[in-house]
Amino acid sequence: MDFALIAVGVVVSREWAPIAAQAGCVVVDKSNAWRMDPSVPLVVPEVNPDDTRAHQGIIAGPNCSTIQMVVALAPLHRVNPITRVIVDSYQSASGTGSDAVEELWEETRALAAGEELRPSVYPYPLAMNLFPHIGGFSANGYCSEEIKLINETRKILHEPDLAISATTVRVPVEISHSEAIHVELKHAMSAAEARSILAAAPGVAIIDEPSENQYPMPLFAAGKDEVFVGRIRNDLSHPHGIAMWVVSDNLRKGAALNAVQVAELLVEQGLL
Ligand SMILES: NC(=O)c1ccc[n+]([C@@H]2O[C@H](COP(=O)([O-])OP(=O)(O)OC[C@H]3O[C@@H](n4cnc5c(N)ncnc54)[C@H](OP(=O)(O)O)[C@@H]3O)[C@@H](O)[C@H]2O)c1
Repeated sequence: MDFALIAVGVVVSREWAPIAAQAGCVVVDKSNAWRMDPSVPLVVPEVNPDDTRAHQGIIAGPNCSTIQMVVALAPLHRVNPITRVIVDSYQSASGTGSDAVEELWEETRALAAGEELRPSVYPYPLAMNLFPHIGGFSANGYCSEEIKLINETRKILHEPDLAISATTVRVPVEISHSEAIHVELKHAMSAAEARSILAAAPGVAIIDEPSENQYPMPLFAAGKDEVFVGRIRNDLSHPHGIAMWVVSDNLRKGAALNAVQVAELLVEQGLL
């Protein structure tokens, strides 16, 4: 086999990815097992395609919330360096896996029937609720999803010191993550310029007609490949700031599609 596209948890990936790589496969792994390993490229084809060239048999795909963010950040960063990012995410149940999706549907049915909710995947009911908590908490008060978003973004953009802060929130949505992103740029940029840069960027689709109620939403991004960007506006609190709202299907571009695109890229680059 030329490829092994691995879509399981960290423990299984740590065991099997090296076995597949040693047998001559190029492994594209979706888990968190290899992402921050300095010898493993972490690739989003629209952003850092050339990082694949250094692969030693394993290539990692980023966390779902990271992928959609860097697809929207990189085109701006190429034109006008980003100096700081503040992101708040609204992440769907499917980001946890199929058990969490089942639990959300079960809780929704139970609520409608007036029955008691008994969560087991999450510590609290997700139906009619949300929690600012994805992954375990560190001593610094950040949870692991926030740390992944920060570290992976820095690695993909080749900006190890980029200032980023994140708050990641689980919301009662089945598929697609949404992110409110505030970026500070080195130089001033109008919202119109940011919109036209993003409109020309690979993998991005603009939905940005607020006066006609047109903005990206998770319900309509689900099942689609693009990273949808809207609510692009100048940040009133910073002279070089841009605010935007970014939504994408976490199971497609946030996971499986990105892995397939990496495999296609390797074929194009003759890197098998
Ligand atoms: N969901 C997302 O949005 C997303 C985004 C980016 C990355 N990821 C990463 O992708 C990986 C998979 O996540 P998921 O959301 O697809 O989880 P999931 O819905 O819980 O699915 C896990 C899958 O792994 C299979 N599996 C478990 N142990 C296995 C083994 N020993 N050998 C072969 N298959 C095994 C399970 O098969 P059975 O059902 O037969 O047990 C199941 O199909 C995780 O590392 C996750 O962090 C997920």
